[in-house]
Amino acid sequence: MAPRIVCLGIESTAHTIGAGIVDEKCGILANEKHMHTTAKGGLIPRELADHHARHLPEILRSALLNSGIGWSDIDCIAYSAGPGIGTAMGVGATAARMISLLHNKPIIPVNHSVAHIEIAKKMCNSADPIVLYVSGGNTQIIAYEAGKYRVYGETLDIGIGNLLDSFGRGLGMGFPAGPEIDRLYFEAKGFVELPYSVKGMDLNFSGLLTAAQKRIGKSGNEDLAYSLCHTAFAMVTECCERALAHSGKKELLVTGGVAASRALQEMLAKMCSGRKVELKVCPKEHSQDNGAMIAWTGLLMYKAGRAVNVEKAITEQHFRTDQEKIDWV
Ligand code: ATP
Ligand code: FE2
Repeated sequence: MAPRIVCLGIESTAHTIGAGIVDEKCGILANEKHMHTTAKGGLIPRELADHHARHLPEILRSALLNSGIGWSDIDCIAYSAGPGIGTAMGVGATAARMISLLHNKPIIPVNHSVAHIEIAKKMCNSADPIVLYVSGGNTQIIAYEAGKYRVYGETLDIGIGNLLDSFGRGLGMGFPAGPEIDRLYFEAKGFVELPYSVKGMDLNFSGLLTAAQKRIGKSGNEDLAYSLCHTAFAMVTECCERALAHSGKKELLVTGGVAASRALQEMLAKMCSGRKVELKVCPKEHSQDNGAMIAWTGLLMYKAGRAVNVEKAITEQHFRTDQEKIDWV
């Protein structure tokens, strides 16, 4: 009988430092994380690195404690290699290299976007979906084809979460503003016309953001939050519907931090029920940045022989979803 594999994964590409431990047979043994939030203003790269370095030791300790295993039970170390913010990612990557050398464990660089997809597939029991990956820095419509996760359509400027967070900043909110904007959505009384920008299968959000920012103070915050989300989510829904129609696939799988938006889920559910497509939404704990998604993808990659020499265990700020060779699907 082949030995079961246990992988430790470290996430640190943006706001969250996370450590997850996944056992091939028993699933997720631990998923510890700490998120850098602000009362006002956005994310500052240097502060992210400081936050991650400060919290990593306690996160690692509780991941080991909660999983009930020791270093000797861990077969491989995975870390988030990008896309992400260089200073923040460096903390997780450095820790992973150090652990790998100290405990003599193979190391696996994991594409953060691919990890969002793999954990969603695992948690939602989804085999061959159209994936909607919506997060702070990314907005992509994706499907697996011939050894890659192919990007059918994507944002040409900012990610949809970034749109929500930047707009929220204008209303005096801190980071993350997404959950509060999502709450305001359901308190709106009116709709304000804002620019809708879909180009084939791609999307633009910056014009929409500027137009909404210019209306702050002239319309109610709830109405603006509703109009901004309604317009952006309709754009995303349109592209997903086209991807489903083109591919004939019967599942839409939503992942990334913005997957937690109730407003987005409602709109996608209406479109999917009209097309007899099953909508699957990755649970919040696993759709937002976390270590278990890196550990799970690292485990799949390790089994596919994708461990690297420690000198090759680097990070890449613009590591695209469709750059990663997918040889485990
Ligand atoms: P990536 O590198 O994948 O872009 P990320 O750094 O943006 O990841 P995630 O945790 O995947 O991190 O997503 C964070 C985003 O999700 C933030 O923009 C946040 O405002 C948004 N978000 C979180 N919860 C909600 C919610 N309930 N409704 C809308 N947006 C949300
Ligand atoms: Fe993410």
